[in-house]
Amino acid sequence: MHSSVVNLFVFFTLLLQTSIALRIATSLQWIEHTPQPYAIKNFYKGSSTATLTSGGVANLGSDPKNFDLAANAETQGLKQYANHRNIRLIYVICEVAYRIVADKRKVTKLSDLKGKKIGTIQSSSAAVFIHNMLTSVGVADNEYTTTSGKVCMKEPCASDTMPAQIKAGGLDAFGVWEPAVELGARALGANAITFQNRTAYREVYALYSTTDALNNVAKRKDIVEFVRALNKTLDVFANQPKEKDVFNFVSGQVGVDEKVVESVWEDHKWSGRWDDELIDFIVEEDKYLAKEDKRSVVPRAELEKFLDTSVLDEL
Ligand SMILES: *[C@@H]1O[C@H](CO)[C@@H](O)[C@H](O)[C@H]1NC(C)=O
Ligand SMILES: *[C@@H]1O[C@H](CO)[C@@H](O)[C@H](O)[C@H]1NC(C)=O
Repeated sequence: MHSSVVNLFVFFTLLLQTSIALRIATSLQWIEHTPQPYAIKNFYKGSSTATLTSGGVANLGSDPKNFDLAANAETQGLKQYANHRNIRLIYVICEVAYRIVADKRKVTKLSDLKGKKIGTIQSSSAAVFIHNMLTSVGVADNEYTTTSGKVCMKEPCASDTMPAQIKAGGLDAFGVWEPAVELGARALGANAITFQNRTAYREVYALYSTTDALNNVAKRKDIVEFVRALNKTLDVFANQPKEKDVFNFVSGQVGVDEKVVESVWEDHKWSGRWDDELIDFIVEEDKYLAKEDKRSVVPRAELEKFLDTSVLDEL
C-alpha cells in the first residue's frame, strides 16, 4: 500500500478505536476499585481498550456521552439516580463492612458513642454508615456530633488525618472505609476497640452504566466483556489472593502497605451478584439521603429499575 493510504488506514483505525474504547470513571485511590485495573490487565478482551479515569458515578450523570461505566459506593449511586434515572447499577464489585474504631478508655460499647465526637466523611457512604450504626443501638442523629476528617492510606499518618486525631484525643471515634480504620486501631494499640455490623451497614461498591450505553449494541458487548473480566477477577480476589500475589498488586495500585492490605482483606467481600436484600437496603438508604439532601424519595419501583441484572444474565 502507498504510505499515505497506510496513514489514512491507521488514522481511521485509531479513530474507530477511540470511538469504541470503554471509558470508566472511578476513584483510583481506594482498595475497592482495584479489581478494575486487575481485570483490564489480566482478563479483558473487548473490541478495544478500557480506560480508567479518576471520577465516579457523577460522571455518568453529568457526562454520559464521554463515560460508559463508573464505579462508586451505593451512596453516590443513589444520589445520582435521584436526578438521572438513566443510570443503572449492573454489578457489585465489593461489599465492605465498614468499622468504627474508638478509644476504649472512653467507649466500651457502641451506644457509649452518645454525646461523643465522631470523625467521618460528610455526604459519603461513611456518613450513612455512622448514622446506621448509631441508629441500630437507638442513638439518634442529634445525640452525637460528627466532624469531617481525612483518611490516611499509609503510616506515618499526618496530624490532620483521623488516625492521628484519635490518637491525639481530638476524636473519640471515627468510621470510614479501610485502611484508615485499621491504621487508627494500630495508632491506639491496646486502647483500640472496633465495631462492625454488616446488617446495619455495608458499603455496596458497584459498577454503573447508563441505558444509553446499554442500548448501544457494540458498547453493550464490551460492557458484558468487562463484567466477565471483573467476574474472573473477583474469583481470584476471593479465592486465591495469596497464590496470585493480589495483596502486592493492590498495594501497588493504592499505596497501602501489603501487610495492611492483607489485614483488612476479610472485611472486603468480592460479591458480583447481589441478593434480594439489596432492594430493601437501598430503599432505606434513599429515604435517609432524601432527607439529608432535601429532595423527594425515589419510589421503590424506580429503585427496582436501578438494579439491573441484565448484563450479569448475559455472561
Ligand atoms: C446489627 O444491626 C441490625 C440492624 O440494625 C440489628 O438488628 C442488630 O441487632 C445489630 N447487631 C448487633 C450485634 O448489634
Ligand atoms: C462469576 O464467577 C463465579 C466464580 O467466582 C462463578 O461461580 C459464576 O458462575 C460467575 N458468573 C458468571 C455469570 O459467569
